[in-house]
Amino acid sequence: MLPTLTSRAGRALAFSALVTLFLVWYTASDNYYSGTATSSTFHAGNGYNKSHPIDALMNTAETDLDEILSTESHDIATAAERYRARRGRHPPPGFAEWFEFAKDKNALVIEEFFDQIYHDLTPYWALQPKELRRQARSIPTRVVIRNNTAILKTDEPRNWMDSWHDLVSKLEDYLPDLDMPINVMDETRLVVPWETVNEYIQKELRDRIMPSQSNVISEYMSLNEWDQEDLEAYDPGFTIPPEGGYWQMAKVGCPPGSPARNNTLPMIDFGTPPWEFDNFERISYHGYVGNFTLAKDPCVRPEMQVLHGTFLEPVSVSTSHKLLPLFGGSKLPMNNEILLPPAMYWAQNEHYSGGENEHGGAWDAKINKAVWRGAATGGRAREPNWTGFQRHRFMSMMNATSVQQAEQNNSHGINFRLPNYADYKLNGDGFVTELLEQHTDTGFNHLVCTPYNEADPTCPYLDPYFEIAAGMPMKKMYNYKYLPDLDGNSFSGRYRGFMLSTSLPIKATIYNEWHDSRLIPWVHFVPMDTTYIDFYGIMAYFLGGRDEVARKIALAGKAWGEKVLRREDMEIYTYRLLLEYARICDDRREFLGYTGDIVGP
Ligand SMILES: *[C@@H]1O[C@H](CO)[C@@H](O)[C@H](O)[C@H]1NC(C)=O
Ligand SMILES: *[C@@H]1O[C@H](CO)[C@@H](O)[C@H](O)[C@H]1NC(C)=O
Ligand SMILES: *[C@@H]1O[C@H](CO)[C@@H](O)[C@H](O)[C@H]1NC(C)=O
Ligand SMILES: *[C@@H]1O[C@H](CO)[C@@H](O)[C@H](O)[C@H]1NC(C)=O
Ligand SMILES: *[C@@H]1O[C@H](CO)[C@@H](O)[C@H](O)[C@H]1NC(C)=O
Repeated sequence: MLPTLTSRAGRALAFSALVTLFLVWYTASDNYYSGTATSSTFHAGNGYNKSHPIDALMNTAETDLDEILSTESHDIATAAERYRARRGRHPPPGFAEWFEFAKDKNALVIEEFFDQIYHDLTPYWALQPKELRRQARSIPTRVVIRNNTAILKTDEPRNWMDSWHDLVSKLEDYLPDLDMPINVMDETRLVVPWETVNEYIQKELRDRIMPSQSNVISEYMSLNEWDQEDLEAYDPGFTIPPEGGYWQMAKVGCPPGSPARNNTLPMIDFGTPPWEFDNFERISYHGYVGNFTLAKDPCVRPEMQVLHGTFLEPVSVSTSHKLLPLFGGSKLPMNNEILLPPAMYWAQNEHYSGGENEHGGAWDAKINKAVWRGAATGGRAREPNWTGFQRHRFMSMMNATSVQQAEQNNSHGINFRLPNYADYKLNGDGFVTELLEQHTDTGFNHLVCTPYNEADPTCPYLDPYFEIAAGMPMKKMYNYKYLPDLDGNSFSGRYRGFMLSTSLPIKATIYNEWHDSRLIPWVHFVPMDTTYIDFYGIMAYFLGGRDEVARKIALAGKAWGEKVLRREDMEIYTYRLLLEYARICDDRREFLGYTGDIVGP
């Protein structure tokens, strides 16, 4: 079967190009990175002349980006038209002011950039506005807007709530009354069964109307009267996982027939490392991520239940299977939260950004290595399950000693399996270990043992495999060319900082974020699979005479981030999201709309 090269561009075209590419790839018999393992090995002289799968992925991605850019709206009439065409409704009241706000901040107004909002909010149209408001009011941690003032409500001081409150406060002058419950845990909270969500989506579609201009209402309701109503509090029914862990809870959010629901994994033995890599090979493009949305989806990747701390043993789980409004900074594809720009991105916190004005120096002055530092988080990595945890796996795969042992042990390490080097055209004789020795600098600064002791970074059952490394502030990491980025307890809060840096992010995650539709893999960053099986191939590609290509993506990502990931862009996204949310919670929601652009009779 042909591997899939995904593109928004004409499939037929892509297909013929793909066949050609496929032939070129497999008739080029010699190694891309040939020779013995000397440092000149990385300079495979003819690398540029040959087609490499990554070249094809980059080409397709550039076409995708051009297509997206061609849909920018420069005036309100076009923006409103594109809205109606894509969403099947009138824009919400306040849309014209929102558009002005975006334009004043020199934003790229591209309808597709807001897709996540509609993905997240659509199911809520199936619930009654009054019920949504009752649910929202029952969650203790929330930001409330009344009379154009954003108010923080919380049961006790909570991490990050101040930061989200600050973000919404910036927008309060423009926003109607609303109650916005926020998830304050690292972990996600909602998994509504796929069948229910599907019913809700069908209902929204059936009930959706585009009222004539004379029937459109342009004022949101005030919640002052509603605040006086005495209603029974709503119980979301948050629960902890049953036997079988979070995976059992989470997979009900996957479509019937998906690999996660079919339980296609033969047998799960949590004590030994999981070796189901065929799945990635099947969906990859010659071993590399071709469709990041697909590759990062645990519904398509049931092996993630033994390859990610989220499913092995999260630090805490408190999940509801009911749909209720709850905002959060990241989620799995099977979760139902409403995504906001993460508070870590909004807070000007050096721990997660390296500092607002620190983005690293010139590419040529950087150390030619991949760097990673951090704690061994991801959940409670105890014996024997620690071997599946993502950060631990990556760290071992970066350890030349462990890799050398695995090379002599049928490609198996204690917690990882090596790729088939031939698939990646990697030379077997010490090439990978040399690559690691010369071009990586990675380590844990704390092993986060169970039981946990903050003062002691070591851990009896992990010490044999991981030496403690000195920590490294983010701005120091920008002195290195390559920045692998891994999930922790949920998404990685460093990602925005990495994108805005002059270094190259190599991103692996199973989490979704607000910005996903605006970042194009292989143009703005390098996507990596959460098995990390493609990492050596990625590094060999760049080190093999394509330093210039790495630099190009690093700087393209930074320049793009300065257009679409700015603080202004987080405001613009949140502003639009909250207009939509307020409409859904409004008693007259079907008729609320903006039609100012329509020249009516
Ligand atoms: C990538 O995969 C997703 C999820 O299966 C799918 O919806 C999308 O159409 C694919 N993208 C492309 C460009 O083929
Ligand atoms: C908002 O304004 C109304 C009327 O102007 C007032 O009755 C109400 O108390 C105000 N609400 C808040 C929360 O300030
Ligand atoms: C390992 O993880 C599985 C799945 O979450 C769980 O059922 C099992 O209890 C865990 N084992 C230990 C020793 O924590
Ligand atoms: C050798 O491989 C086995 C699994 O096949 C694994 O359990 C063991 O830990 C490996 N040994 C080393 C030294 O990595
Ligand atoms: C690399 O792995 C070996 C063997 O597993 C271990 O002894 C060593 O401490 C590891 N090195 C680092 C830097 O973690």
